[in-house]
Order: sequence, then structure tokens, then C-alpha cells
Amino acid sequence: MDKIIVKGGHALKGTIPISGAKNATLPALAATLLTGERIHLSNIPHLKDVTTMLELLGQHGSAITVDERLGVEIDNSGVNNFRAPYDLVRTMRASILVMGPLVARHGMAEISLPGGCAIGSRPVNLHIDGLRAMGAEITLDEGYIRARADRLHGAHIILNPVTVTGTENLLMAATLAKGRTILENAAREPEVTDLAIFLNKMGARIQGLGSSILVIDGVDELHGTEHRIIPDRIETATFMVAAAVTGGDILLTDTDPEALETPIQIMREAGMAVELPEPGRIRVHVPDALRPVDLETCPYPGFPTDLQAQMLVLNSLARGTSRITETVFENRFMHVSELQRLGADIRVHGNIAEVHGVDHLLGAPVMATDLRASASLVLAGLAARGATTISRVYHIDRGYERIEEKLQALGADIQRTTS
Ligand code: EPU
Repeated sequence: MDKIIVKGGHALKGTIPISGAKNATLPALAATLLTGERIHLSNIPHLKDVTTMLELLGQHGSAITVDERLGVEIDNSGVNNFRAPYDLVRTMRASILVMGPLVARHGMAEISLPGGCAIGSRPVNLHIDGLRAMGAEITLDEGYIRARADRLHGAHIILNPVTVTGTENLLMAATLAKGRTILENAAREPEVTDLAIFLNKMGARIQGLGSSILVIDGVDELHGTEHRIIPDRIETATFMVAAAVTGGDILLTDTDPEALETPIQIMREAGMAVELPEPGRIRVHVPDALRPVDLETCPYPGFPTDLQAQMLVLNSLARGTSRITETVFENRFMHVSELQRLGADIRVHGNIAEVHGVDHLLGAPVMATDLRASASLVLAGLAARGATTISRVYHIDRGYERIEEKLQALGADIQRTTS
């Protein structure tokens, strides 16, 4: 199994391009199932989760052409299998995103129930209840969600709690439903808005983009189009923290600072110099010692839960005490015990992590538990004295494109070993 070995203590310096957003790519790929006409998607990141979603589409009957440079072309005129099997869904929960499009266009879907995962129980009740409200008949048997509908109809759906993929699933389904659907308390993440923009290019009639109320007037069919995926805000911020914890100075290109307003504000409070020299670029350096910052994860535009683990590392190296409160997922502090192995002083009380800054971290063997947790271990390893060996790194390949190559280009001593 692959391991990553990081030898810390090198200040990161240089320029690195940011990849397309994983969490915008996955729903966009699922959305292609809404039409039989050709779709072209560009700025697709090379990630394990993207490969899994392409594999899922392939087994539904999609014809897919991947061009490393230009993107992905998908022709769904031959889709003839409506089952998302356990073997694929268990490796990627976002497989549930094919449910809305399959029911809306083909009148049926059989999706393996995703089950729990390392960051909590993560139910999909809102996806199911929403489709039921739109007229789908849904049963749960043998571990599968079986959904049927002649044609979905519009509905007024209130999502509570706010759910990103739940909003995306129902938004996609509503584009082909008869009549008007209103999604209230919809997720406002930039990835949801990117999906809505893409769907409107396909001929959907969605209003309220970027707000918490999405109004969708269903149409009879959608058509082919082209779309460029937005930059990955979580990859961007992860590199920003990497610069900060190594005392580096880096320039990130092909990104979008606007999607990171709250994290940038928090990072500035933490003593990071974040400059926006021109559109799509962010320069990060650290003029002085890092300061502790309190934060609470929240749905967008709040501070993203997908950056919580990285901020724990930043706070671990700040002078003083801080508190990080996780409000989105019930069990997203699995990385704390691994960070403690490197010398971080973090105490978890329920959903609050109390962080006492330490002078330095010391390298040690650690294990990745989920995607963002593994990113935090890489960050800690980059900052630590000595070598950190991270096992179970397959988690990181799900969401970070060529992470060790990008970090090497910035001067990090990071290698992957295969044993
Ligand atoms: N929830 C319910 N019922 C539902 C759906 C969600 O109770 O039917 C709860 C969840 O248990 C959780 C909260 O709602 O407590 C929010 O979960 P959400 O549904 O928004 O999460 P998700 O859609 O499954 C997406 C991202 C995650 C990211 C979260 C929160 C994708 C593919 N995944 O997950 O990304 O953490 O939103 O922003 O978009 C990652 O990239 O590492 C990752 C985990």
C-alpha cells in the first residue's frame, strides 16, 4: 500500500496552479445523465473520486472520451442500466448524485445505500424525502434505494439541515419535473451554483443561483453543452495553510479568492499575509508568528468543514490557545489523535477542539482516516522536524491532484513509496 514520507522544515516557495474542484466535478458528471446529447466538461481534476464517477457512468451505459488536456466528452444516448452498485457506492458516497438524474430522465434508479463513514453517520433521508415529494415511489430493500416515477412533478421542499449533495440531487431532478419546484434552505456552496449554471446552459430554468431559495421550472428535455469546472477552493486553502505552516511564500494561480472570503478573513486574523495581486491569483506569506484563531465550521458562506483539519494544524503552531467548533459533521476529529502523535496539543470536548499552540511538531508515523484528515497530516509533516510517514494515503488521492508533485515543485521534501 502507498505511503507518503514527508521530511519537514522546508519553507515552500514558488507558483502552483490550482485544479478544478472535485465537489463541482462530481455533480456535473452526474448531471450529464439528464440528456442524451453530448456534453463537454473541462478543467476536470485527475482524482480517484472522478475516476470512480466515470466508472459509475460507464456502467450505466455512458460513452466517455477522456482527453488529458481538453477534458471529458460524455454521450448518454445509450444509458440502459439504472443501478449504482454497492462496490462503487461504498468507495464514494457522492455516487448518490446519479439518483436524481436517473429518476428524472429514465423514471428509475437503484442506488446502494451509502452507509456511514469516517466523519459520521451521514444519512441521505433528505435526498429520499425530496424525491418522494416530487412524486417518486421509493422503497429500501436489500441495501438499495429503489426509486420509480413516471414523471416527477414540482414540489415545495424545505431542506433541514442544509445539505450540499441533497440540494444538488433535487436540483438536477427538478430540471425535468413537470411544473415548479422550490428548494428552500438550499446549500449555497459555490459548487452548487456551478452546477446550476451548468444546468441552465443545458436548457434548465433555475432562478435564485447562489441564494438559499432555488426556484426551478421543469422543462421537457435538456440539451448538450460545454462547461468549465470552477477551481477547487479547498485545494487552494490547503496550499495556503501549507505556505503558512512552513514559513513559505507562494503564489497560487487558476483559482478564485471570492469563493474563500471567510477562510481568507480567518487566515488573516491568524497572521497570514494573503494578497490578491490579480484576478484568479493568491499570494500567501507569513510576516510574523502565527496567532491562534477561534472558528466554527458552517455551511457556505461560513467556514468550510473541509478546512477544519487543516486549520487545526495552523492553530497547533500558533502562539496561544484557540477553539475550533465542528457543527456540520458529528465525528470529524479523527485526525486529532494522529496530530497528537506529532506533538500537537489538542483536546477534544464534544464537537469542540481546544488547541494549545506548541513551539514545533516532531515527525512520526501516522495514519490517514479520511480525505481532509490526510491533508492535515501532510501539512503537519511539512511543518514538523524530522520525517513523517503517512499510511492509507489512498484517501488523499480521492481529492488532491498530484499533491506530492505540486508540493515538490514548491520545494517540499515529500515522496511516495509503494510497498
Ligand atoms: N444530512 C442529513 N440528511 C441528509 C443529508 C445530509 O441529515 O439527507 C446531514 C449530514 O449528516 C451532515 C449535514 O447534513 O451533518 C451536511 O451534510 P451534506 O449533505 O451537506 O454533506 P454531503 O453533501 O454528503 C458535501 C461534500 C463534502 C463536504 C460536505 C459539507 C461533496 C461530494 N461532498 O458532502 O465534502 O464536507 O458537503 O460541506 O460535495 C470532502 O470533499 O472531503 C467532503 C467530505
